[in-house]
Parts: sequence; structure tokens; C-alpha cells
Amino acid sequence: MMSNLKWGFVLYVFIFIKLYTGSCNTSGSSDPIAQQRLDRVLELPGQRFNVSFAHYSGYVTVNEESGRALFYWFIEAVEDPSSKPLVLWLNGGPGCSSIAFGEAEELGPFHIEKDGKTLYLNPYSWNQVANILFLDSPVGVGFSYSNTSSDVLNNGDERTAADSLAFLLKWFERFPQYKGRDFYITGESYAGHYVPQLSQAIVRYNSAAREKSINLKGYMVGNALTDDYHDHLGLFEFMWSAGLISDQTYKQLNLSCDFEPFIRNSESCDKLLDIANEELGNIDPYSIFTPPCTANFSLSNKLWKRWHMIGRINQQYDPCTEKHSTVYFNLPEVQKALHVHPGSAPSKWETCSDVVYATWKDSPKSVLNIYHELIHSGLRIWIFSGDTDAIIPVTSTRYSINALNLPTVSPWHAWYDDGQVGGWTQEYEGLTFVTVRGAGHEVALHRPKLALTLIKSFLAGNSIATLELVSDS
Ligand SMILES: *[C@@H]1O[C@H](CO)[C@@H](O)[C@H](O)[C@H]1NC(C)=O
Ligand SMILES: *[C@@H]1O[C@H](CO)[C@@H](O)[C@H](O)[C@H]1NC(C)=O
Ligand SMILES: *[C@@H]1O[C@H](CO)[C@@H](O)[C@H](O)[C@H]1NC(C)=O
Ligand SMILES: *[C@@H]1O[C@H](CO)[C@@H](O)[C@H](O)[C@H]1NC(C)=O
Ligand SMILES: *[C@@H]1O[C@H](CO)[C@@H](O)[C@H](O)[C@H]1NC(C)=O
Repeated sequence: MMSNLKWGFVLYVFIFIKLYTGSCNTSGSSDPIAQQRLDRVLELPGQRFNVSFAHYSGYVTVNEESGRALFYWFIEAVEDPSSKPLVLWLNGGPGCSSIAFGEAEELGPFHIEKDGKTLYLNPYSWNQVANILFLDSPVGVGFSYSNTSSDVLNNGDERTAADSLAFLLKWFERFPQYKGRDFYITGESYAGHYVPQLSQAIVRYNSAAREKSINLKGYMVGNALTDDYHDHLGLFEFMWSAGLISDQTYKQLNLSCDFEPFIRNSESCDKLLDIANEELGNIDPYSIFTPPCTANFSLSNKLWKRWHMIGRINQQYDPCTEKHSTVYFNLPEVQKALHVHPGSAPSKWETCSDVVYATWKDSPKSVLNIYHELIHSGLRIWIFSGDTDAIIPVTSTRYSINALNLPTVSPWHAWYDDGQVGGWTQEYEGLTFVTVRGAGHEVALHRPKLALTLIKSFLAGNSIATLELVSDS
């Protein structure tokens, strides 16, 4: 008994010294496992609750010569992480941070209060069913950086995929307990490019290495940019049929902008989009039935009350979440807790980088060719769509999927959550499509419970519940 205590004490002192010396070494450790320990986040500023799960954040160098490092935040499952799959989540932009959106306002556990300082626990966090890895990609986004400043001005799809693959290979060295774990890639919006492109890079890497270095099982994208032409047709049609734009603007857009690239279109097309924007008025195009952040939220405001009734939106819906994260992630103590290097941190942390967006290089007009390739490699592929989004709406996604010409396995039908229609679904050979009713561009923000049902079904590989569950009583 006594000697056990003594050994316990010796071990305690040893660990203490290790931790102490470790945390003093700001240049990091070359031993990946030691670095994993250094990356552990113990407590976040403004966190007034305890969590049962471990989480880690830090940098992974993806290119030594240029000094490119990607920043990640890895959050383990609430219970029994060793039995749960690993899920990577990517936001789009290009230029937007997965930590700002995915973690802090959509599917992550740590959400931010209106004061920008206090955290609350998201009850529908996806770490209830998986270990979630949030990656700020590419360099210039969030806390990801490059020591070669021109890198930030030369981002594009190809290097993003290559750097993300390099990230994953090194990340698995740092977290060897996840090597071989069932792995899924998920994301939304412009990640409609990143996710299939990274999946393709992994499949090709695995086949060249003649082993499944990364045990990729499937991917899922939402409100995803997929095919510029079909996405455009669907966008113009949606804006018109939802009653947001005039007949004339619809016809002109449809005539003049259909063959344009989705990011950085021509000036003439830009002018038409400006007219469309003007016609939209002050709504949130990312979620057309919820109030925009600029609205007057005084409760005595009648319009706001009516929004509550008509939209049946969650009482707590807060359209200004992006503002709160901008406050929170700029706090020096938050950056310290997340192991952000002061010398490498941006002078001002932003949810999305305009520079990265404005200087984006290669962006293929379509990723449908990758779908054709990957559908035959046995991956589980799901596409979902929040059906009140006017950025990459449900009509866009339907046109893009239809362009794949896949045979139907299970026809269009409603799916249910708690006896309510959660949306609609159609299963194709090699691809499942799921809409989420009443969700905007950020499905997990607007319909968190439905989004959790969606990720559960995806990971289980089941059809999403198709029968209305009628109670016995
Ligand atoms: C910190 O870690 C690096 C990489 O392992 C090592 O080269 C360096 O000597 C360490 N510095 C101190 C002060 O321990
Ligand atoms: C968190 O855990 C610590 C240690 O067990 C305990 O002292 C503290 O009261 C807990 N805090 C909350 C908010 O539950
Ligand atoms: C970038 O430069 C800083 C300062 O020299 C250095 O500490 C850091 O390790 C470099 N980052 C990478 C990814 O090489
Ligand atoms: C929009 O364009 C598509 C393709 O060019 C065409 O099939 C469709 O009829 C057009 N719709 C309208 C309302 O002009
Ligand atoms: C917001 O609404 C309140 C109550 O109707 C009103 O007093 C206030 O002037 C409004 N503020 C703005 C900026 O419109």
C-alpha cells in the first residue's frame, strides 16, 4: 500500500516535470507522441462547465521549405472515443475557417455566447457519435499560416488537396491511436470541392502506397459547390421560385451567367448579380426565412415576433454567431489556450479571409468527374442540402446530381425525425441524397437536431429513417 503510494508520487513528480518542461518548449517537440501531449487543451477561457472528452489543438507543418503549417482542433467523442470513427470537417469560402464555422457555430461542442467571452455546450455536437477533426485550410485561413508570404496569395484547389493530405499523414503520426480508424471526410459549401478532391488524393495515395495508410470509408458534403453550370441554373431558378427576384432578372441571369465560373465571374454577370442582390433586399441569403444579423432584435419589434411564428425558428436562434467568434478567437488568452504561436498568429483573426478568396488560383468548373471516379472505389458518398439556402440551393444540388445520371435504388421519399418530416431523400447507385427541411446553408447551425440525425445515419451506413414513428399509445 505504502510503496504503491510512493511510486505513485514519484510518477506524479515525473509527469509534472515532463509537463512543465514540455510546456516551456515553445518550438514544439520532434517526438510526435510528445507533441500530442503538448497539444492537449486543458481548459478554455469562458468555459464554465467540465467536459468528459479530451481535445487538442496545434499546428502540423505540411511543407518544411516554405514553412507552411495548418492549424487543427481535434475533439474526441464524448464517450468511448476508441470505438468511434474519425470525422474530418471542412468549411469552404474559399478562405473560411472550419473552427469559426464548423466548430464554434455548427457541429462542434464549444459554442460562443453573445458576449463573445463565454462558452456553452452544444447539445447536438457531432462528437456524440464521432471524433471530430476541424482543419483550417489552406494557409492564410484562421490560424493556418505560411512563412513564405506569397503562399497566401497563391492558394488554389490543387495545393489545398496536397497540403491537406500531407497534414493527415503527419497528424496520424501524432495521433497513432487513430491510425487505421474508420475515417470520413465531411464539409459544406466550397468544401464541395475540397472534400471530393482530398478523398481522391487519399484513394490515389493509398493505391500507390499499396496499403490503406488512411482508412477512408466515405465522404459527405452539404450545400456543396459541385458543378458551376448546374449549380448556377439551380441558383437562378431557386431565387425566382422562392419569389426573391423578378422575372426579368431571372431570365437575364439564366441567359448571361449560366456558363460563368462560380467564384470570380465576369463583370457583366457581376452587374446582374448586383441587381439580384438589390431585389433580395435585406435578407440572409444563407437562410432565407430567418432574420439577418443586421435586423433589429428588439422584442417589441413586430416583424421579429412574426418571424418567430412563421418560420417556427428556434427561440435561441442567433444570426450573429460569426460576430461572437470574431471576438472570442481574437482574445489573447483564448489563442494561448489553443496553442497559437504569437509570432505566427494573424494580426487580426477573421472568420473568412478576403485575401485568400480574392487571390484564389485554380478552381475546376466541376468535380463531377471525381464523383464518377470515386463512386466506383466503394466509398460511401452522401450529399445533403438545407432547403432554405439561396447560396448553393437544393435545386443546384439536384441538377448537379442529375448530371451524374446514376440509377435510382430507392425513389424520392420523406424521412422522419421524432415523427416530423426532417426532409426528403433519394438513394442512387453509389450516392445518397438527403435534404434537410428548413435548414439554410449551414445545416448544423439552423437544424442542429436534424443534422445530428443525419451524421448518425451516414456513419451507420443506414438509410435515414424513412418511416414515421407512430407511438404505441
Ligand atoms: C524543444 O524541442 C525541440 C524539438 O524537439 C528541441 O530541438 C529543443 O532542444 C527543445 N528545447 C528545449 C529548451 O528543451
Ligand atoms: C469541474 O470539476 C472540478 C474537479 O472535479 C470541480 O471542482 C468543479 O466544481 C467542476 N465544475 C463544474 C462547473 O462542474
Ligand atoms: C515559421 O517561422 C517561425 C520563426 O522563425 C518558426 O518558429 C516556425 O517554426 C516556422 N514555421 C514553420 C511551419 O516552419
Ligand atoms: C434557363 O436556361 C436553361 C439552360 O440554358 C434552359 O433550359 C431553361 O429553359 C432556361 N429557363 C428560363 C426560365 O429561361
Ligand atoms: C429597434 O426597435 C426599437 C423598438 O421598436 C426602436 O425603439 C429602435 O429605434 C430600433 N432601432 C433601430 C436601429 O432601428
